[in-house]
Formats: sequence, structure tokens, C-alpha cells
Amino acid sequence: MSGKETSRNRLARNLGATLLAIGTCIGSAHAATVHVSMTAREVEVPIDNEGNKKLAWTFDGHVPGPLVRATEGDTIVFTLKNDPANKNSHSVDFHAARTDVLSSFGPIKPGETKNFSFTADHPGIFFYHCGSDPMIQHIARGMYGAIIIDPKDPNAMPKADREYVLIEAEMFDNPEDVQAMMAGNWHRIAHNGIPFRYDPVHDVHATQTLEAKPGERVRIYLVNAGPNNFSGFHPIAGIWDKVYPSGNPQNALSGMQNYTVAPGDAATFDIISPVEGANALVNHSLRSALSGAIAILMFSKTADPTMGRGDKILPR
Ligand code: CU
Ligand code: CU
Repeated sequence: MSGKETSRNRLARNLGATLLAIGTCIGSAHAATVHVSMTAREVEVPIDNEGNKKLAWTFDGHVPGPLVRATEGDTIVFTLKNDPANKNSHSVDFHAARTDVLSSFGPIKPGETKNFSFTADHPGIFFYHCGSDPMIQHIARGMYGAIIIDPKDPNAMPKADREYVLIEAEMFDNPEDVQAMMAGNWHRIAHNGIPFRYDPVHDVHATQTLEAKPGERVRIYLVNAGPNNFSGFHPIAGIWDKVYPSGNPQNALSGMQNYTVAPGDAATFDIISPVEGANALVNHSLRSALSGAIAILMFSKTADPTMGRGDKILPR
């Protein structure tokens, strides 16, 4: 189309888009409509820092699924397609939504597509996951992700210099063994799909750490995918400056050493280091930490400026 488009057509199209944007702003105090589409895909994904793979059930082929971000007041129009090559029904359950569980979150057969919309009327960090039966297995096999709803008042929270999303989840040796999931027989814990993903101290195959400069406010969004385990989130050699349960600015706690995030819950953790060096962000339930729930946050004056920003908020 671009080759044949005349400058007059282009001008008209741009003007139309501009008027539409102005109309949206005037009509609803800058609330936007955010279209989010995902495809449930049953594919192999990496399960460790060495690149070994296992069949997973995923949103868009990745564990965790895509990071969704919108602003308080926005309308989110969500479309889920279940890839026709899949063997199982899938669905989505957005903790950020107030809607009808049956019509919005119900199962979708392979080859089918469904959509629903909701208004994101509570700011914070929220879990999303597949809710198809057995839900414990759909989550354990990888169908989970995070949605950030930024407050509409940009001054509701102190401005973060960098942001990271960490999704903690139990991993089971045999993804077909639902009884092992019911019994809690996990042997590894993942951060964003992989144990010790950001911890080269405990796994020499880990290739990255979370990075920031001393004095910067680093905002960690911790989502606990479970399916069963609680996470007592502690920064070794640091103190959480602020903790916001569910990420809502009205829930501010100060000077916390540890805050427990239940399965299916999430919270926002701010940390500032006065010195160069490392903090180790752990689930202080030590079986969890030593099974993979440790992320190194490196503070240095030469921190990579791309880390904690853009697509490096959830580094893959
Ligand atoms: Cu599913
Ligand atoms: Cu849920």
C-alpha cells in the first residue's frame, strides 16, 4: 500500500488518527483501549540455563507469557486463540479484571478464538493464568504471566529508575503427573521460567543478572504463580524501601525485610542501594531459594542502561 499511497491520502489518514486520539482524550480523560491478543501454544520451551527443553503449555510460545501493560481506566480488549495444533482446551483468567467467570474465563477448544473486555479500574501488578481443568497442571506447565496496571496519577508512587518483573513458579519433573502437583512434589523453582535464571553464582550457565546503579530506585514486581508454594521475598544485604501489596499505591509499607506473596498473588517491591555490590533477591523459604528462587541484583556505576527498561523489564 505504501508504494501507491498519495501524499494527500497519507495526510488525510494521519489527520483522522490525530482527531481520533484527541476525541479519545477529551471523551474519557485519556483512557485508552488496549488490544491484547495471545495464542495458546503447546510447544517445547527451555527449562534451564543450559537450554534443555520440555513440552510446555504456553501463552504465545513462551514461559512466562507476554507482559501486558496498561493504565488505570483503560479498557482492555483481550483475544485468546487456541492453536488448532493443540491437544487441550485452554483459557485465560486475568486477576486485573472484574467480569463474568463463565463467559470471559471459560475454556476454549483447539482451533477456537474468544474475546472479552474489561476496564482496568485498579492499579497494580496482577497475575494471569490459564484456568482450564485441571488448573494446577495448566499453571505448572507454564500458562502464566503478569499484567501491570500503572496508576493514572503519575505521581501516585515515587518514580522508578528501573523495573523488573519476576514470576516465581514451581517446576515438576513430570508435567503429566497431576498427583505430584497435588502432593507438592516439586524439585525446582523458576524465576521467569528457569531456575537461577539471573543467578550465575548458583548456576554457572546463567548469563545475566538484574542491574542498576547505586542510588537508583529499582522496582521489582514479584508475581507468585505457585501453584501451591508461598514466597517470602527478601533482598539479602538490602531492605525493601517500599512494598505495595497487589502493587496498589494506597497499600504502601515501609522498611520491610520480607513480605510474603501467596500463590496467585503479586506485590511491588522498591529497593535502593547506597553502595555498589550485589543483593540476592530470594524466597527466604530456603528450600525454594536453593531450588532456584534466587536472583542477583547487581548495583554498579556502569550498569547496562538497557536493563530494567523496555523489553528488559522481563529479561529473557
Ligand atoms: Cu491451559
Ligand atoms: Cu487465579
